[in-house]
Amino acid sequence: MNFPDGNKIITEDLYDALGCRKVIFLKRVRSTNIVAKNLARKGCSAAVISAVQTAGKGSHGRRWESDADKGLYMSLATCGIREGGVTRCSSVAAVVAVFRSVRRVSGLCTEIKWPNDLMVGGRKLCGILSEAMWGDEGLEYLITGIGINVNQNKSDLPDSIREIATSIFIESGKTCDMHTLAYDLIRTFDGIICESETEGAEGVMKEYISNCRTVGKEISVSDGGKEIFRGRAEGIGAGGSLIVRSAGVLTQEFDFGEVTNREI
Ligand code: BTN
Repeated sequence: MNFPDGNKIITEDLYDALGCRKVIFLKRVRSTNIVAKNLARKGCSAAVISAVQTAGKGSHGRRWESDADKGLYMSLATCGIREGGVTRCSSVAAVVAVFRSVRRVSGLCTEIKWPNDLMVGGRKLCGILSEAMWGDEGLEYLITGIGINVNQNKSDLPDSIREIATSIFIESGKTCDMHTLAYDLIRTFDGIICESETEGAEGVMKEYISNCRTVGKEISVSDGGKEIFRGRAEGIGAGGSLIVRSAGVLTQEFDFGEVTNREI
């Protein structure tokens, strides 16, 4: 595989619940998701981490601000997962893994905003971009792109997100070791995938629901910047969908969309 010129590649092997995962550290890349996808297509399970992303992808076609060394930009390429478990709700597994790791490594307690954001005090700390590739034989691979604001000061955050984003450093006042966080997160994610293959996804789903602050709130759901539904978030469906009830009568289930809290 060709990496951009000047990129320093460090590769380590990590053995955990899922077996062997290549951990690849890069200096600079357009998006770690692109590198992870190329590896997954060759059947390689890997964690791709870059100090900088020049075209980091966010959800809803947005850009993910990825400045040098201040955030964790990591994509997990996961191959050979057995059908069942969290294969149909892998972003639930990812957000629960980040929730646990951030708490374990930094002591910070976060809240989940449906579908897969982690928030502190209403500000976004982490976003996840998941993709599953299904073929004739079932699930071929998962790509799980995770962006965590780690050691940014408030002034490091770009103007466009300064009022809506936060970081582990801003919230805890302590610098967080990125390497420790990344390794803890990979092991946690792989542990959840592995456990769910044998025991099903109920446990991780329960943990997701009990830490999801969207449930029970008056919300509006939008798609492409346009409001498509308003109501009360009643619960989470089996695959991670959001169940919303409008005017106490009509119930609708959403697999996608962006949610805004309408309660002050
Ligand atoms: C979101 O907007 O909430 C999702 C953000 C996902 C960002 C991460 S950073 C690592 C990986 N590479 C990308 O280009 N995007 C994801």
